[in-house]
Amino acid sequence: MTDKKTDKKLETSLISAGRKKRYTAGAVNSVIQRASSLVFDTVAEKKRATAGRTRGELFYGRRGTLTHFSLQDAMTELENGAGCALYPCGAAAVTNAILAFVESGDHVLMSGSVYEPTRDFCNVILRKLNVSTTFFPHTCGSEITQWVRPDTRIVFLESPASITMEVQDIPAIVAAIRQQAPDAIIMMDNTWAAGVLFNALDFGIDISIQAGTKYLIGHSDAMVGTAVANARCWDTLRENSYLMGQMVDADTAYMTSRGLRTLAVRLRQHEESSIKVAEWLAGREEVWRVNHPALPQSPGHHFWKRDFSGSSGLFSFILRRQLSREALADFLDNFRHFSMAYSWGGYESLILANQPQEIAAIRPQGEPLLPGTLVRLHIGLENVDDLIGDLTDGFDRLARHPE
Ligand SMILES: Cc1ncc(COP(=O)(O)O)c(C=O)c1O
Repeated sequence: MTDKKTDKKLETSLISAGRKKRYTAGAVNSVIQRASSLVFDTVAEKKRATAGRTRGELFYGRRGTLTHFSLQDAMTELENGAGCALYPCGAAAVTNAILAFVESGDHVLMSGSVYEPTRDFCNVILRKLNVSTTFFPHTCGSEITQWVRPDTRIVFLESPASITMEVQDIPAIVAAIRQQAPDAIIMMDNTWAAGVLFNALDFGIDISIQAGTKYLIGHSDAMVGTAVANARCWDTLRENSYLMGQMVDADTAYMTSRGLRTLAVRLRQHEESSIKVAEWLAGREEVWRVNHPALPQSPGHHFWKRDFSGSSGLFSFILRRQLSREALADFLDNFRHFSMAYSWGGYESLILANQPQEIAAIRPQGEPLLPGTLVRLHIGLENVDDLIGDLTDGFDRLARHPE
């Protein structure tokens, strides 16, 4: 894991990024500067702050304080961008990045397997603004050009896919879009890779978006969104997000920076444990397929191997049969270490399930129905053998519910 811009290894960059003396005031971590008003002693100072308000001068709370600047610098360095906008959650990062670049009459081309609220935003909010969306089959590569239109303004990707985890051929998609629609802005929800296991901007993506709520925060106790843009998009993204009133409070910005310092070791453990659990699941006779990008059987594994520097802890597996309501409740209600929750990326293990019909309903392309119930796991930092023991007990419970 080498950071190309600085030649530092990722682990080292995560420790040093954003820790300028100006932000830390002699401490190890950045100060927590809570402020709406930032006070100017003289007219000349006010003038200087106004002129430099987009370049790290203290101007007004919504433009950020030293705590925000530290995090923004860190994310910009880590994702090799020109700047980083901060949002109160990942969904706000997604929607405001899109809104910054579309106007009435534009077209958005979006991967069909994105996070469900991202798709709903297009169908509900963008539609009201007379911006249309086409959802393309998630696993297509250069064939994406068949859905490009003269008015296509944004191409939005998410890899691996939400829930079903297929990895996309990003270089093929980017090359095809650049050739056919050079003005289109390519954005990616890069949350699974925590922004650092896949260097989206180095692959030609314009904006790398992340629900920092997951791995950056890492402890399931705060929400934040980040969007790192290249030089082509940074000014537009920054000014539009500012006009939309998008910012996060200083305490959350501080917690996000703090999360960065342990991100590499957490990710390494999430990766190691999730692969161990995934490989164990692949050997269970109840399991039809394991969708973990690091496993050869998982769709798009070769793209993951080629383009990503590692894996995080979120994956899914599909059972050979569709569980009855009673069997599913017995399975899910009785785990000792896996909790049910909609988020992921924290230190704790989580489990959720979807029936094949529920997956079909959120995949507008009409892919074949899955043969059985899908279970999504987030593998946390517990002892992995305890987790496997818990899942073993879960399969034993299923045996009490024959088909
Ligand atoms: C892939 C992905 N993107 C974006 C989001 C939205 O993040 P937030 O909950 O911080 O708004 C989520 C949340 O689950 C997610 O899984």
